[in-house]
Amino acid sequence: MQQFRHHAVQRLARASGLDASRVDDLLQEAQADRGDFALPCFTLAKELRRAPPATAAGIAEAFEPGDGIEARAEGPYVNVTVDRELLARTTMEAVAAQGDDWGGSAAGDGKTVVVDYSSPNIAKPLAFHHLRSTMIGHSLVQIYRTGGWETVGINHLGDWGTGFGRLLLAWELYGQGVDLDALTADELVDLYVRINGDIAEEQKAGGSDLDERGRDWFRRLEQGDPTARTLWARFRQISEKEFEAAYELLGVRFDCMWGESRYEARMPKVMQELREKGLLEESEGAQVVHFDTEGMPPCLICKGDGATLYATRDIAAAIERQEEFGFDRALYVTDKGQALHFKQFAQVLEMAGHEWAREIRHVPFGVIRMGGKRAKTRLGKVVLLVDVLDAAIEKVRALIREKNPDLVDADDVARDVGVGAVIFNDLKNRRETDIDFDLDQIVRFDGNTGPYVMYSHARACSILRRAGEPLRRMADVDTSLLKDPAEHALLRLVALFPGRVDKAREKDEPSEVAKYLLDLCEAFHHYHTKGGRDVDLRVLHEDAEVRAARLRLTDTVRQTMKCALGLLGMRAPTGM
Ligand code: ARG
Repeated sequence: MQQFRHHAVQRLARASGLDASRVDDLLQEAQADRGDFALPCFTLAKELRRAPPATAAGIAEAFEPGDGIEARAEGPYVNVTVDRELLARTTMEAVAAQGDDWGGSAAGDGKTVVVDYSSPNIAKPLAFHHLRSTMIGHSLVQIYRTGGWETVGINHLGDWGTGFGRLLLAWELYGQGVDLDALTADELVDLYVRINGDIAEEQKAGGSDLDERGRDWFRRLEQGDPTARTLWARFRQISEKEFEAAYELLGVRFDCMWGESRYEARMPKVMQELREKGLLEESEGAQVVHFDTEGMPPCLICKGDGATLYATRDIAAAIERQEEFGFDRALYVTDKGQALHFKQFAQVLEMAGHEWAREIRHVPFGVIRMGGKRAKTRLGKVVLLVDVLDAAIEKVRALIREKNPDLVDADDVARDVGVGAVIFNDLKNRRETDIDFDLDQIVRFDGNTGPYVMYSHARACSILRRAGEPLRRMADVDTSLLKDPAEHALLRLVALFPGRVDKAREKDEPSEVAKYLLDLCEAFHHYHTKGGRDVDLRVLHEDAEVRAARLRLTDTVRQTMKCALGLLGMRAPTGM
């Protein structure tokens, strides 16, 4: 579609006398029944002091058709249409040639993006809300990679900070008699929950003894106390192993597992740099950086007791990432509650003269709720990600047993679809909207669910299997036989795919791909419903030429669905 757009822009520019870049900015995707592109003439009409419909009519009049493109004025718009057959052929050929790379481009060649995602805090379970960061980040990595970018996925594990002092204290207080080697992730969480509970109680009563002792433990850890270090290393190991299980199930892999602790050694250097550049100021014993920006609170760099902070570690980490990868863009996928933190540390870096800090982008997302409540609690039990995934897999397994009892690899499919159900629910809405999680809804095979889009793909695979004949080479396919409006609609959507992927990348918004996939699935089912009613529209038509063209079309759609699923981090089972 992009090459047709290019031609449309050139021709519209000639017809209107406008700069091509101006036309390019104005030209939109047309509503499906209006054509392929639409040029709205409102602002133009104002400049020309003419009525918008007259402006549109004038441009359409001067438009020279060619390259398979025609234009027509409709009210205040110039609607541009690409020749159906040409679009069908070009699109089907492109999909056949590009295969699993369809939807991608080379636009990002030579550029590197670093994506910081998942990044849970250790000694806490991988809670359900971590799914959001993990899956949005994972999807963005795929979306950038297919756009030609070099990608580096980093899990910035939260393995440092005062919370660990509390955990060490918990071990001192309640860990007597527990075998450190046999300590489980669950027990670790219990320790964490218990100490936080006790500290909260104590603070309610006005005390601060436990809190102080926790801080003390953290200081010991920072100063390299061997007992503190050994315990900490073991806690980290237990957590990491626990996280691995969930990542494995989700099919997520990181290029770097660089925790916050990694930056401890760099802290003095960061502090020195900020001091030399005259950015550090003392405030109530702490070291802070003040901003000129009205209403922006100072960034806390170092506490009175010398302990460094989350922001300081992020400053050090960003410097390392720039040194190591020379990134052109750095994404940080976290909940929107952290927006200020990212603004602050990026601004500190800019003030310190690091121009690349302008390419730091926070990619925020909303909260996930279960039954109207936040699926995240500091005290008490959290909803574990693995448990949710397991529950979804179980539900899907039951559904498959009922719908398709003979499916051979039912266990694998149930796992892929169960996990896919959870992922799709997470990615189908704009990331900043808060989402509700209702297990029974998300595993349904109908509605806007993961199982539905995965089933659509499996259905296309099953039609191709049932045909029992090899796909013809594109050169031997007569695309002019694809005449039905439902076929045009499908091909148009397929042609739009690369543009939608670009948009997803521009906005760091995987939901663009998810929404696109829903549209494609709907168009596909519509086509089949029509074929169910009218034998002449069946894919497996008795005429061999028609059948060959429709099978190719089906494969084109199948391939596009598979690529879209892949960009969302979902698997694409061929039967379910
Ligand atoms: N560990 C943090 C949390 O769980 C998220 C870290 C995000 N990444 C970063 N570089 N700050 O909230």
